[in-house]
Amino acid sequence: MSFHPKIDYREFHRSTRKMPYDDGKVFAYEPDNRARLEDIAKRYPPEGRKSAILPALYLVQRQLGYISLSSMQHVAEAIGCTAAEVEDVVSFYTMFYTRPMGKFVVQVCRTLPCALRGAERVTEELTTALGIQPNDTDSTGTFTLMEVECLGACDRAPLVMVNDSWHECLQPEDAKKLADDLRARGEDALTGCHHQSPDRAKG
Ligand code: FES
Repeated sequence: MSFHPKIDYREFHRSTRKMPYDDGKVFAYEPDNRARLEDIAKRYPPEGRKSAILPALYLVQRQLGYISLSSMQHVAEAIGCTAAEVEDVVSFYTMFYTRPMGKFVVQVCRTLPCALRGAERVTEELTTALGIQPNDTDSTGTFTLMEVECLGACDRAPLVMVNDSWHECLQPEDAKKLADDLRARGEDALTGCHHQSPDRAKG
């Protein structure tokens, strides 16, 4: 007799690799974003221009909401690398999305410190408040709900991140209020120190 829980090993063999998403549109940076990318690229020697790949991808995501196949090709041309190198980076990092997401991407940390402080209940309450399951986007395109690993603010557990900003110490009973506040006030509803997207790209 075994005391180990039954584990479905098929789960571990399933590929979760993000595949390039062809939205059928040709991507190009808007002039502001192109200028911002050029500012960032100046920090590197000309032969190291591709070191700007992460901010280059963040700029795409902020403009488009996700990383499309065409945008990967555009980034490759803009920073001087291959489209395969861009795809490697996009498929490695979970913060890059390869499908359309909601206006508010609500990410609940599920790593141990947050889990011990009730993250699972937070997810349950958000599921009810938003009317979607983790990894889903609602029919209006307003919310996407995700469970993610450590967001780097374990002392403020349970932590939720909405787009690029933290919401700290969210209690399960406050999940509905957060959803309502986001609808009403957008990211102003969040409590954390705000790392707003353009600043992070500039920084
Ligand atoms: S464990 Fe949740 S932010 Fe680190």
